Amino acid sequence: MVTRLRGLPSTRSAATVRPGKPATVLVVHGPNLNLLGEREPEIYGRIRLVEIDRRLRELGKELALEVETFQSNSEGAIIDRLQQARGRLHALVINPAGYTHTSVAIRDAVVALEVPVVEVHLSNIYRRERFRHRSVLADVVHGRIMGFGAESYMLALRAIRALVETARSVGA
Ligand code: DQA
Repeated sequence: MVTRLRGLPSTRSAATVRPGKPATVLVVHGPNLNLLGEREPEIYGRIRLVEIDRRLRELGKELALEVETFQSNSEGAIIDRLQQARGRLHALVINPAGYTHTSVAIRDAVVALEVPVVEVHLSNIYRRERFRHRSVLADVVHGRIMGFGAESYMLALRAIRALVETARSVGA
């Protein structure tokens, strides 16, 4: 039996999950997250992005998820990467960073992917400046995790695992 993940938004072009094969999850990091460890450590912590990516891949193995990671400072490059993933991806974890608050184009690319999406932030954006309180993706993602530093990403991956499980158990 093959399983198509259903979530919000609709998942018509989601790749099928085959029994015994890991589901593929793309993790996208937006602008300035390449500076993690150096940039505002009092907010984002001392951990570097390569270490987060390493932990994600390791946790992915434990959860039977194939984790791909991608970081870019450019809106267009993020959109291109999301478009390339269409039809061969089961789920998306995205920290759009500064683009969270502004990018209708990234929101549109996320919707076009048609896979379950978890939005992630290291910081709790509601404890920060007012302009960060708005996410233009909030109403098109399955769920949002924020405020736990690097652990937010790990929680997001576990949430994706649960979505894959649910989809399998209902035979979606
Ligand atoms: C962030 C929060 C954003 O407001 C900010 O622009 C970032 C990181 C976070 O992970 O907490 O770059 O997405």
